[in-house]
Amino acid sequence: MSRPSTVPTGAGPAGPQIVTIDGPAGSGKSTTAAVVAERLGLRHLDSGALYRALTLALVRNRIPSERWPHLDRGELAALDLRLDPTRGGFEVLLDGAFPGAELRSPGVTEKVSVLARVPEARARLLELQRSAPTYGGVVADGRDMGTVVFPEAPLKVFLTATLRTRARRRLRQDGKEEVPLAVSEESARIHERDSRDEERAVAPLLRPPGALVIDTTELTFEEQVERIVRAAAKALGSAR
Ligand code: CDP
Repeated sequence: MSRPSTVPTGAGPAGPQIVTIDGPAGSGKSTTAAVVAERLGLRHLDSGALYRALTLALVRNRIPSERWPHLDRGELAALDLRLDPTRGGFEVLLDGAFPGAELRSPGVTEKVSVLARVPEARARLLELQRSAPTYGGVVADGRDMGTVVFPEAPLKVFLTATLRTRARRRLRQDGKEEVPLAVSEESARIHERDSRDEERAVAPLLRPPGALVIDTTELTFEEQVERIVRAAAKALGSAR
């Protein structure tokens, strides 16, 4: 009997309906995860948006980044951050409202990996992330989805691409020209953030054991989506 090409939302009786996609900045995780989730009929969980929202909350509250490593559980819990399920994913709400474009502002992007090194901040977000599958199956993207947040996921994907490819994609995504100087500057910014994510002591970016590793440098977007959807249909099908 042939397998169905889509997987229904919700935890199956024999296992969780979870696909994780981890990888460095600009590897295309979020865009890929959103389309994969749609094709599989699951919700997309963009964990980076949570890290960005928590960063924005601290900036709005004028808490200087030198203090972030010393914030305690109570102070972090007092920040009003919620995850609301929508049809295709989740909306991150800060003080009851969606922060929109502010989440991807240069100020937040520059500071977010500083926050991501703080164990108490990660603990605060872990709970929120783990609550996501209670609403149904998810495709979760980030840095530690397969290693820390959902190690039990039946399919774990690790996306990579060369630094220059990732820099060019990021410029295109931001509507900027891909001239050589801009590519070099963006490469340097991404490299700096990658190093912080890879070298931090807590939940560093690494390939989860047993992950399907996909180098997307030479792949079209459709090809990378197809590979994951095919692998997911197999892995989630057998987990049900
Ligand atoms: O889209 P991009 O790769 O630029 O970043 P993002 O997914 O929006 O995540 C922003 C930052 O949050 C990353 O550089 C990490 O420092 C942090 N992050 C993390 O530590 N763990 C995650 N699961 C997701 C994001």
